[in-house]
Amino acid sequence: MKIKQNTNTNTNTNDANDTGDANDAGDMDNVNHPTPNPTRIDSQLIEDDSDILSLSDVRDTHQLHKSAIKRVIVTGVTGQDGSFMADYLLKNTDCMIYGTVRRLSVKNYTNIHHLKREPRFKLINLDLTDDYSIREAITEIKPHYFLNFAAQSFVDGSWDYPIQTWETDATAILHILESIRKFAPYCRFYNAGSSEEFGDVIKDPQDEEHPLRPQSPYGAAKAAARHLVRVYRESYDLYAVQGWLFNHEGTRRGKEFVTRKITHTIAKIKHALEQDKKYDVLKLGNLDAQRDWTDAEDFMSGVWLMMNQDAPKNYVLASGKMNSVREFLQETLKCANIKHKIIGDGEYEKFLTEDDKLIMEVDPKFYRPAEVHKLRGDCTLAENELGWTRTYNFKKLVKRMYESDYEQLKNR
Ligand code: GDD
Repeated sequence: MKIKQNTNTNTNTNDANDTGDANDAGDMDNVNHPTPNPTRIDSQLIEDDSDILSLSDVRDTHQLHKSAIKRVIVTGVTGQDGSFMADYLLKNTDCMIYGTVRRLSVKNYTNIHHLKREPRFKLINLDLTDDYSIREAITEIKPHYFLNFAAQSFVDGSWDYPIQTWETDATAILHILESIRKFAPYCRFYNAGSSEEFGDVIKDPQDEEHPLRPQSPYGAAKAAARHLVRVYRESYDLYAVQGWLFNHEGTRRGKEFVTRKITHTIAKIKHALEQDKKYDVLKLGNLDAQRDWTDAEDFMSGVWLMMNQDAPKNYVLASGKMNSVREFLQETLKCANIKHKIIGDGEYEKFLTEDDKLIMEVDPKFYRPAEVHKLRGDCTLAENELGWTRTYNFKKLVKRMYESDYEQLKNR
């Protein structure tokens, strides 16, 4: 773990180091969070390791802030949730935030470029599969809060790389808990849990009492982590919680997830139709799957409330509403003002424009070995006990995502 202070003043306008996968929406003007516009971002790219602190630098920072300011480690800070959490904490607290990144030859810092000059935000190296780096970060930073958003979070991928999923989503949690127990027992720990832990549901909607019946290696790993968090909480009196977060989407969502895949592809198709150009058809798997889709930014206040109660407790965060993948596509087409018709069903279902241009076809390669057909959360407890509320409903969420994708493509 090394390198320098966050003083790079790179003015390169070419964002070549980003893979674009955890996407480009950090470049968007964002009404609720201080995400800058593209022209400002161009001179503020976090591009290389010179933006990452060494632990000796961390020690200095620690000295600087030790009396007054609380320290928060946020893992997975380059992803959707971690970056939104960093934004939330910067806006609503005076905490010092240590965002963790994994050393990769191809960087993707798109979601955090706007934090480059933020004095209360530092980047450190931490790999969840390396126990040593977890321990080092905890002993050097001595965080008041450890918020773990890093994960192998793609359910479909967990069948392709189950061991990596297990190590990142379950074993790593044990390492974090052990380090907190030994070196920072006062540190409050949040682990990102998932509605996928409920899996093959036996009750609709699902609340905190619903049994864990995971259907994927991902869901099983998250369920195991939940047990570990509980065991450590009860055995060692740690403040350790794992919220159940139902599907949460937004402009920074990775394009492998179905919502962003839909809004991004339909935005591309819309541009192509406007310019009478060729385009790649949208290919989807199970259109009947139903999910409780909420705006990811709305979840951040819920997580922070969960972390600041008198006693640790797990809560469901959700909207209580459920829509199918098909409905998400239809709502996106409405936002794009593309009138459509549907022909066929099952594997042969297709969406066409009114003048018979193909928009979407089903591709069975996106079917999963085991599907979770329906998920809908009951967040009554979080509303009543935490006072948690949401700003965005399903329609507003789809509109926001589609418009963001459409505008970004226009600016390219
Ligand atoms: N990804 C994807 N791609 N999913 C598709 C597609 C497709 O082309 N076509 C249909 N689907 C269906 C999937 O089968 C699934 O039922 C649903 O769309 C949602 O898939 P994802 O967007 O990949 O999300 P997820 O529900 O599997 O998992 C997300 O939510 C969980 C919380 O419930 C992830 O964010 C997880 O990390 C999170 O824990």
